Amino acid sequence: MAQDNIQSTLHEERQFPPSADFVRSANLAATTLEHLYTDAAQDNQEFWAKQARNEIDWQTDFTTTLDSSNAPFYSWFVGGKLNVSYNCIDRQLAENADKTAIIFEGEPGDVEHISYRELHRRVCVFANALKAQGITKGDRVIIYMPMIAEAVIAMQACARIGAIHSVVFGGFSASSLKDRIEDTQAKLVITADGGNRGGKIIELKKTTDNALEKGCDSVDTVIVFERTGHAISMQADRDIWWSDAEQDQSTECEPEWVEASHPLFLLYTSGSTGKPKGIQHSTGGYLLNAITTMRWVFDIQATDTFWCTADVGWITGHTYVAYGPLATGSTIVIYEGVPTVPDAGRFWDICQRLGVTIFYTAPTAIRALMKIGDELPNQYDLSKLRLLGTVGEPINPEAWMWYHNVIGKQKCPIVDTWWQTETGAHMIAPIPGAMATKPGSCTRALPGIDAAIVNQEGEEITQANEGGYLVIRQPWPSMIQTVWGDDQRYKDTYWPYFDGKYYLAGDSARRDEDGYFWIMGRIDDVLNVSGHRLGTMEIESALVAHPSVAEAAVVGKPHDIKGESIFSYVVLKGDRPEGGIDDELTQELRAWVGEQIGAIAKPDEIRYADNLPKTRSGKIMRRLLRTIAKGDEITQDTSTLENESIIPQLQGKA
Ligand code: WT7
Repeated sequence: MAQDNIQSTLHEERQFPPSADFVRSANLAATTLEHLYTDAAQDNQEFWAKQARNEIDWQTDFTTTLDSSNAPFYSWFVGGKLNVSYNCIDRQLAENADKTAIIFEGEPGDVEHISYRELHRRVCVFANALKAQGITKGDRVIIYMPMIAEAVIAMQACARIGAIHSVVFGGFSASSLKDRIEDTQAKLVITADGGNRGGKIIELKKTTDNALEKGCDSVDTVIVFERTGHAISMQADRDIWWSDAEQDQSTECEPEWVEASHPLFLLYTSGSTGKPKGIQHSTGGYLLNAITTMRWVFDIQATDTFWCTADVGWITGHTYVAYGPLATGSTIVIYEGVPTVPDAGRFWDICQRLGVTIFYTAPTAIRALMKIGDELPNQYDLSKLRLLGTVGEPINPEAWMWYHNVIGKQKCPIVDTWWQTETGAHMIAPIPGAMATKPGSCTRALPGIDAAIVNQEGEEITQANEGGYLVIRQPWPSMIQTVWGDDQRYKDTYWPYFDGKYYLAGDSARRDEDGYFWIMGRIDDVLNVSGHRLGTMEIESALVAHPSVAEAAVVGKPHDIKGESIFSYVVLKGDRPEGGIDDELTQELRAWVGEQIGAIAKPDEIRYADNLPKTRSGKIMRRLLRTIAKGDEITQDTSTLENESIIPQLQGKA
């Protein structure tokens, strides 16, 4: 484990208690929260069993709360049967059929309100369409869609029939899509002709065609939703329009009751190796924490309009767009496009027009909008907002204060939520009506979540502000079940130390005098670029796959808006370019990585060197490369380098 992320430098003393107004109407008051903590501490399993029976409509009650006999493969709510789509939609119909479930806004400005009754109808029809294409329980379905209501309908329809979806972010390339199709052995792909982003059309169908050209023999059918209406090609024996697939399908579809541990979805995420892993989530445990965190952290109430800006291609868009808010009968906003079309006031315009009360976004978006200034947000009426949230990376106190002052007008608590694709739901986050927040801290672990900071030996660090490894010491309902098709990788990645007793999150953190958590960064070779996780190895493999590249090393460099930018060092098969500069090749390599992975993985900077700096055992000296990327003075020992003359090359000085 790397040590250089464990030294903490941030000191933030400000505290923000919730207003009396907020406290008065909050779901959880400080005393209730204390009860939850006490209950969970007394009997963790009993605590979750009670929550599960309160929050979920089970078709068959569970008999065992937690089966640990095959740890670390934990199974929650054994014997229980349920359906997520039923819990999200059907159970709202008795009293809330006419309530708006989804307000969709397209980037061009089209707006559509979908009630729970209408959502039920659409999900049932599409679920029947999937069945008619031969999809049954346990089959994998890839969803490669724009951020439109139909993406959520497709996910819900899969859940309804017990099919396992794997959503691939629309910004990923054909080659990333192909890898995911092949790893899941999906039978069917759901896509659209295109989506609107940044005033342009994202060619989703074309990219799907490219992915399927190169293999993907498991795929029999591609369902295509018409979003943009521009010309695309359809392959007669394989492709079918969404509307044609829905022809004559019934508006009722009996939910498939599945075991609590039945996989609801797979979602690929980057790790320290070259290959993204398919994080497998359960049905029962996952749904439970999606719901509890909606109530506790988002303080969700019947009158709220909830907007999480994340795309369904990420875990945030699963738990806090497609599932959690619907399972609590809420009204959500879905927005197709980017925050800067037609101008950088779009988010605030949507908040005003659609009456958003809870707004959840990423620090990178906040920093980007903050940079543009207060004038735009000040033009809008943001008075309906009552709670703000952030996720994806540590938020710097400056951006936190701007969010608090300019967007929240000092009256909205900010919930800084720490969690991961693997944890399924928030783990460490404020309970907004029950505690004070501090800019930059995700505060305390939620009730029932046993988060701790430990040293290399697995001993808890009790000394305030001393950094260590963030671990979870007890299983929790929405935890990762395994890595799809690779149990060993699941064990090796998440349970490698401390006798396999603790879940290793891969982050370093410290706790302050009040026990508040402060996340300090990743301890592995994972970058966090604009809140998205990217493995350095993955980008390196992509670079090395280019015919001109012999070797590559990628590190993160602190970046004002993105959090981290991608900095790469490349050794060419031929000669190093004159003076280390070859703009044409640099553009080509950036585009190449874009094709291999997706635009988010394009290196921001590339430097060419004759060699990479390595230790005697052949490991790339990443810490040195990080120092150089930052432009800092080198304090590490470089005397062991075979070829010290590469240093000025790496620094871009030769
Ligand atoms: C990694 C997980 C969970 C949805 C979005 C990202 C970092 C996440 C925070 C936060 C500091 C955070 C961690 C974590 N992270 N939230 N509130 N404060 N860091 O999901 O792609 O699975 O990435 O994001 O490093 O391990 P992900």
